[in-house]
Amino acid sequence: MTTTSAKNLFIYGSLLCFVVLVILTIDTMGKLDQRAPVITEKVDAGKKVWHKYDCIGCHTILGNGSYFAPDMTKATERKPKGYLKKFLIDPRAINPGTAMPSFGMSEQEADDLIAFLDWTSKVDTNGWPPKPILAAAAGTRTASMGQMLFQKHDCSACHQIQGIGGTAGPDLTYIGNERPDVEWHIRHLKAPDAVVPDSAMPGFNDLSEEELRQLAEYLITLK
Ligand code: HEC
Ligand code: HEC
Repeated sequence: MTTTSAKNLFIYGSLLCFVVLVILTIDTMGKLDQRAPVITEKVDAGKKVWHKYDCIGCHTILGNGSYFAPDMTKATERKPKGYLKKFLIDPRAINPGTAMPSFGMSEQEADDLIAFLDWTSKVDTNGWPPKPILAAAAGTRTASMGQMLFQKHDCSACHQIQGIGGTAGPDLTYIGNERPDVEWHIRHLKAPDAVVPDSAMPGFNDLSEEELRQLAEYLITLK
């Protein structure tokens, strides 16, 4: 290769790579906007509340923050908004043992925060953070269908099984010993507060009778 052709290869090669880089950057920037919903005034106000109480001092969100408390990126996807609102206003009324401080937040602040958390929940994060995957259920086919429903309805957001999951509700690792009655579970899943007074668990009354039975059959295998 002569010096001139080596020079040309370098110059045009670099130029080509630069042009490709610019095109890909423009393409990515264009897609970024589509990955997040519009920011309303409420979302903006909620982000200010998030900073006011330094939530990020304990929680992570969209990859930033501390690892002391659970990730908040998909908070409203994983927990009902009514539940979150009650929890934010008075954490101990919902979960007496919680390590989350009570901030004495107003209703307005809680609503704004939830709008902000709902916004981050709707940001397309390519599946981040991942949901827990539970060990395969032992027992019948009905029980393994039930386990799939447990996964699908994100019960792990609030319950631990063998150390995996959230702490808003009781640990379910041995629930089959503690509550071996399938009918009890079906009634409880449909309307928790009809069975356990003042229960903070959301009802799953949109599930079919068959699905409720499958979930209950799975729960009683946990021993
Ligand atoms: C001092 C640390 C700390 C700060 C600050 C903090 N949290 Fe928490 N939060 C926790 C811990 C720890 C938990 C986890 C579980 C528990 O103990 O119940 C939690 C749980 C939560 C939950 C889940 C509730 C549930 O029952 O599943 C939400 C929602 C939440 N925090 C939102 C916030 C918001 C919003 C802020 C800011 C206003 C905030 N947290 C500030 C420590 C903190
Ligand atoms: C937003 C949080 C939350 C979600 C989501 C949730 N739970 Fe709960 N769960 C609770 C709380 C709080 C309690 C304690 C009050 C009660 O017993 O109703 C509870 C209680 C329970 C109990 C009774 C435990 C005991 O020791 O008596 C079972 C069983 C249960 N949940 C199963 C489930 C299943 C199955 C799902 C998913 C379909 C689910 N939960 C989703 C919060 C939640």
